[in-house]
This record gives sequence, C-alpha cells and structure tokens, in this order.
Amino acid sequence: MSRYWSRVVQGLKPYVPGEQPKLPDLVKLNSNENPYGPSPLAIEALRGETGDTLRLYPDPNADRLKEAIAASFGAQGVVPRQVFVGNGSDEVLAHVFLALLKHERPVLFPDITYSFYPVYCALYGIDYTEVPLTEKFEIRTDDYLMPNGGVIFPNPNAPTGRFLPLTEVERLLAGNAGSVVVIDEAYVDFGGETAIALVARHSNLLIVRTLSKSHSLAGLRIGYAVGPPDLVEALERVKNSFNSYPLGRLAIAGAAAAIEDRAHFDRNRRAVIASRETLVRDLAALGFEVLPSTANFVFARHPGRDARALAAALRQRGIIVRHFQQARIEQFLRISVGTDAQCQTLVGALREILR
Ligand SMILES: Cc1ncc(COP(=O)(O)O)c(C=O)c1O
Repeated sequence: MSRYWSRVVQGLKPYVPGEQPKLPDLVKLNSNENPYGPSPLAIEALRGETGDTLRLYPDPNADRLKEAIAASFGAQGVVPRQVFVGNGSDEVLAHVFLALLKHERPVLFPDITYSFYPVYCALYGIDYTEVPLTEKFEIRTDDYLMPNGGVIFPNPNAPTGRFLPLTEVERLLAGNAGSVVVIDEAYVDFGGETAIALVARHSNLLIVRTLSKSHSLAGLRIGYAVGPPDLVEALERVKNSFNSYPLGRLAIAGAAAAIEDRAHFDRNRRAVIASRETLVRDLAALGFEVLPSTANFVFARHPGRDARALAAALRQRGIIVRHFQQARIEQFLRISVGTDAQCQTLVGALREILR
C-alpha cells in the first residue's frame, strides 16, 4: 500500500495465475498447458519474423491472423470482420467486460468458474451476481433467465470441466435477447462442441477462444473473439483506446501458421483426449470421484483425503497440480492432462501417497 496509489488500485484483489516454478524436472500439471509442442510450421513462421522487419510496428489490425481464423471457421460462415484478436484471451476478456458487460444490471456468471471474471468486474466497477452451479457442478440454464447486464461462462466450464450442451446454450441465448452472452471456449477443442455456428443466428452471442491450450501456444499469448460485427466493433474501440499493437509480428505470424496446421492440431488434441480418458480411469481406480470432463484437465476429489494435503504431498514428489481454497471446491484437485508418462508418474505418486 502506498499513498501514491489511486483508490481503484487500493481496492484491487488481483488474479493469481497458476505457479510457473523455475525448478527443473517438475511434472507440471497446474496451468492446463498443452504437454506437446506447437506446430513446426508455427515455429518456422516465428523464425521468419526475427529479422530486419522487427524495426517496424506490426499490423495493428492483425489482418493475416483474422483471415486465418475466419477461414478456419469458413464452414460456419465466419468472415474476418467478425473476428477480434488480443494478447491472450485474458486481454480479450478484459475488453469484453468493459465493452459489452458493463451495464446497469449485474452480469451473471457461475459461482464456480474462471476466477478472473470477478477480478475484471472489480477493475471496471461492474456489478455481478454469481449463480450457483447445481450439486453436480452443472450450469442450469433456467437460472440465467432473469434480467441481467450480460452472461459469461466457459464451456466447458473451468475448473469443473463440465460441458453445457448446445441445445441448452441456444435456450440461454434465446432467453437473453436483450443482453450479450459470452461463451469462453478456452477448452472446447478437447471434446466439447463449439457454438460458433450459432453466431449466424444470434446477434447477442460472442465466443472467446485461445491458442494457449489446444494450439500449445500459451507462451505466445494469442486470444480471439468471434461474433457479430457490431460486437467486434465495440472490442476494437476499447482496444484502440488502450493499445494499438497488442500482438507483435511474431505472434501474428506464429498464430496464423498454427491455425492453418490443422493436422498437427488434430493429432495433438486427440492425444490429450486419449490420455485424459486413461487418467480418469486410473484416478477412479484409486478411489477418486472425477467430474465428467471435456477439457484438458480433470477435477477430482478423494473421499478419504484432504485435497490440500494431497497437493502438498505431490509437490514434495515434484508434481504440481492446482488446488483452490474456495467454498464448495476446497476438496478438489484440478489436474492438467500431461503426456501419458506424466500422467503415469502422477498416478504412481498418488498410489504411494494413498497407501
Ligand atoms: C476459462 C479460461 N478462459 C481464459 C483463459 C486465459 O487464457 P489465455 O489468456 O492464455 O488465452 C484461461 C486460462 O487458463 C481459462 O481457464
């Protein structure tokens, strides 16, 4: 605290990201990163941008990337002016809160969800209401059919991993025609179904996505949104009042190449899904209750062991997972799906700890 701080800064409770420890040889299963490397074509594209052109500012509109994103959803009729890009989906989400969710009425999101949402609300002075998930940690559509200033949730939800079927998403959209519904699809490529096809039918739908998970590019910081042009224009207005160049030349080139390497993307996500299924079975065999997951992580609790103690015991063995000290979920561990070898190391350590 300092007397030079503004009142806003004094009141902030910043988001705490998953730890990025500097220790070697860790089995790092705490930040939902992809255990496999990015597309070699993306790496090659990055190299192509490391020369003299770095003197020059990047394209402020990142047209090359918007075209690649739109083309990847060509079947759903997406065009570049329906695409917004930013420095990680966290930045895109920040702009979404300010541009589209700051209204008289509170924005609605689940009580258990991505913990950055309330942080943005505090930063921008946005009123919000947390809507409790069911006992089984599901989103109940009817709970969102009330006057609001907008709705936002990840699908699949984080940290639960549970997916809300698109029939329910459509019902939620139809019941909220007066406000914007934002679906954060950070994890959808691992077995969910994207709602992008619904954008053509719903003028209030905005989808936010990231290349951090299914494209193995968390380190490059690329996020984007797809929605009707007027919603995208609102985001551009905020972005152009904040930072004209959120994506550097390397990011634009690498992200576009990664999106175009469909074969790498498909191989990679299929491998993660297969490892998740094995991990779920192995955890269940050890007595864990595992929520159904369509993400690159699982959310699990053991009836006989304290989750915080389990996380600490794993850590002593060089394995880090995420534990949230939060009501309703303090007995769960969120475990990112690693390679099969990493998952086996985790399961072996848990077997030993539980003995
Ligand atoms: C639900 C959800 N949305 C968005 C993000 C942000 O991802 P990024 O800023 O890396 O694109 C995360 C990161 O973990 C997340 O869990």
